[in-house]
Amino acid sequence: MNTNDIPVPQGGTEVTLVSALTAGDVARMRDGMEKFRRLMSYYKCAIMEVETKFRVLDEQFSSRHERNPIDTIKTRLKSPESILEKLTRRGYEKTLASVERNLADVAGVRVICSFKDDVYMLADSLLKQDDVKLVTAKDYIKNPKPNGYRSLHLIVETPIFLQDEKRMMKVEVQLRTIAMEFWANLEHKLRYKKNLPEELAAATAKRLYSCAEASARLDEEMGQIRTVIEGV
Ligand code: GTP
Ligand code: MG
Repeated sequence: MNTNDIPVPQGGTEVTLVSALTAGDVARMRDGMEKFRRLMSYYKCAIMEVETKFRVLDEQFSSRHERNPIDTIKTRLKSPESILEKLTRRGYEKTLASVERNLADVAGVRVICSFKDDVYMLADSLLKQDDVKLVTAKDYIKNPKPNGYRSLHLIVETPIFLQDEKRMMKVEVQLRTIAMEFWANLEHKLRYKKNLPEELAAATAKRLYSCAEASARLDEEMGQIRTVIEGV
């Protein structure tokens, strides 16, 4: 290509835009960013609270039963890009109040267990706590998604205690077994695989579905074996 064909950026718009900004605009932007950062830090605190609750349950259980129900805990704070994308996709107002009102998955805690029974035991123990309010529960273990996805999803509301206020925050809790996590990670890769030929994508989805079924049978069988072993 002849380099002369490439349009040279003029930079004019940029200059106009910057010079049109008033000190007031800049102050408002700064204030908005500060408020966004503060809200994200509240969500981070809520993640810490919920993670600690699970660590406490794991500790107590292990001291009583000499095994840990939790294999791993993963946490994540939704990125500003994903927050904006979801607000746009769902047609919600793009304000901080709208984030709190409409998005339940800004704070995420994933609890991974060896056994399915422990998933339910931990969920029950969390929900029994008097500072945890259940907002919604979706049991994709009892009712798997059509693609085979399994997990127990809870949206809970829990308080964080700040210097001079108590604030209720929503947290998305996903509980699943190691086998479900293994499957979901692989399926996630397929979901984000662009330009996979249609036929191959369909065949792969089918194979993944049978893997989900096989893995559910494995979870069930291993759980029963554990019950037998612990009973003797
Ligand atoms: P989102 O808008 O994506 O948050 O979904 P939702 O509000 O309909 O909630 P849902 O409980 O169905 O899913 C929430 C989260 O669970 C997702 O963001 C994923 O992390 C996980 N998830 C749900 N379905 C699937 C699935 O089919 N495959 C995988 N890998 N993960 C899933
Ligand atoms: Mg989500």
